[in-house]
Amino acid sequence: MKKNTIHSTTLIEIPKITDKEGRGNLSVIEKDCLPFKIERVYYLYDVPSDAYRGGHAHKNLKQFLLPLSGSFDVILKDGENSKTVTLNKPNKGLLIVPGIWRELENFSSGAVCLVLASNVYDENDYIRDFDTFVAQKMSTP
Ligand code: TYD
Repeated sequence: MKKNTIHSTTLIEIPKITDKEGRGNLSVIEKDCLPFKIERVYYLYDVPSDAYRGGHAHKNLKQFLLPLSGSFDVILKDGENSKTVTLNKPNKGLLIVPGIWRELENFSSGAVCLVLASNVYDENDYIRDFDTFVAQKMSTP
């Protein structure tokens, strides 16, 4: 289990091109924007406001969460500390490094969470039990 702490999870601002004639904004994620090669893209949508997603950590996966529409909260835990990050700007996303527990909640109506991931789906990369997560973090030298 990676020793990373919640302080290694950072917000990354995506460059925004604002149209001079008032036709809105365009943001682009190019290959050097994120500190990993994107191997998978998925998105969460139609999430009820009282639902929560996540509730797991990854052993090796890096992920970048972007609120394409609306807003939601991400609760991050490293076994010792926790913090809550509200994502509500379509050009400001959250990089989550491996070894961090995350929960997503408080989705606004119509919220869409885009996830860019460093690897394909692999259930063996998940830790879905919080006590197991904490125990593994504590036993990491
Ligand atoms: P999960 O990662 O637990 O979702 P969340 O963290 O948003 O609550 O995945 C939910 C289900 O979808 C689970 O059965 C696995 C499946 N899934 C895939 O098949 N492929 C994927 O890329 C992802 C992210 C999930």
